[in-house]
Amino acid sequence: MANKVYITRRIPPVGIDLFREKGVEIDFWDSDEAIPHQELVKNVKGKGYAGLLCLLTDQVDAEVFEAAGPSLKVVSTLSVGYEHIDLKACKARNIIACNLSKISTDCVSEFAVTLALAVSRRIEEGIAAVRNGNWGLWKPMWILGSSFANRTIGVLGMGRIGYGVARRMKAFCISRLIYHDIKESSFAQELGAEFVDLETLLKDSDVICICCNLTPATHYLFNKENFKKMKNTAILINTSRGGVINHDDLYDALKNHEIGAAGLDVTEPEPLPKEHRLNSLPNCVVTPHMGSNTWEARNNMSYNAALNIVSVFENQTPIGKIKN
Ligand SMILES: NC(=O)c1ccc[n+]([C@@H]2O[C@H](COP(=O)([O-])OP(=O)(O)OC[C@H]3O[C@@H](n4cnc5c(N)ncnc54)[C@H](O)[C@@H]3O)[C@@H](O)[C@H]2O)c1
Repeated sequence: MANKVYITRRIPPVGIDLFREKGVEIDFWDSDEAIPHQELVKNVKGKGYAGLLCLLTDQVDAEVFEAAGPSLKVVSTLSVGYEHIDLKACKARNIIACNLSKISTDCVSEFAVTLALAVSRRIEEGIAAVRNGNWGLWKPMWILGSSFANRTIGVLGMGRIGYGVARRMKAFCISRLIYHDIKESSFAQELGAEFVDLETLLKDSDVICICCNLTPATHYLFNKENFKKMKNTAILINTSRGGVINHDDLYDALKNHEIGAAGLDVTEPEPLPKEHRLNSLPNCVVTPHMGSNTWEARNNMSYNAALNIVSVFENQTPIGKIKN
């Protein structure tokens, strides 16, 4: 009998093609919007699914597993983050949980650098001026930003994306590349990146790119107290998780010019409401968690999320198996 998989959203066709090629039967939530939790529970109930391909917007918990029943062998998420999967509940039922790891590293690294450049050169304000008819005759002191050349660039979290950002930043003739992590990294040394403590990172950086995971130790790491340690011209870029920054404190720091500007691809909450105070500040640029929005990354994500499931069906260890 063919293995059956439930997919919680429309996904790029490469993953679907792999399932079909391997003779796997699939059903899916035929929408670009997230499936409501109770719909998910209802749709997996008593259907004999052996695999569940989910997204970071789905709460995959004991209730879902209970409904899916003992046929469920593997859950694979189309994301790097897996905080939405109840790993304890997986373990209790011998369900293998999988995520994606390296798939979006290049595109998120590119995006972090893009956002940093856009913020430091005030691109959003320039575009708005043109669209609003405010582009007058050339003025020597209008919408002035600052350059990366001869600046100190700081990276918090020298993991896959942090390294990708650091590598790209080197191309901008910067004077110093510094990073802070829980441990020193050998590959950062190849870049000439200097391992520093958090205080130095905050104090010395002209641009800080947040690339760490969200953990209890990094939750609200950027708060009132730490904003005061940063340069008042510093640019803060976050492509990791919104929870690393206390957004109320960030608003105050930006409003009071304790720091220069911020570029956020991830916020708390997500989506950030249109009326949120941060959206009223010209020195804060917010993008809608689009760091991995490229065709290349999404096709890779779709293929690899499906491959994780197929590997389990073929009694192989999936590349994305989460240690649990
Ligand atoms: N914006 C997006 O679209 C997008 C896409 C993919 C990933 N992400 C997020 O980016 C983050 C990083 O991804 P990655 O693939 O580079 O992960 P990674 O695990 O390779 O790197 C994370 C780094 O953070 C470090 N770190 C952990 N705790 C720290 C602490 N207290 N202080 C300093 N450093 C600490 C780790 O040691 C590690 O080197 C993840 O949280 C992920 O969810 C965002």
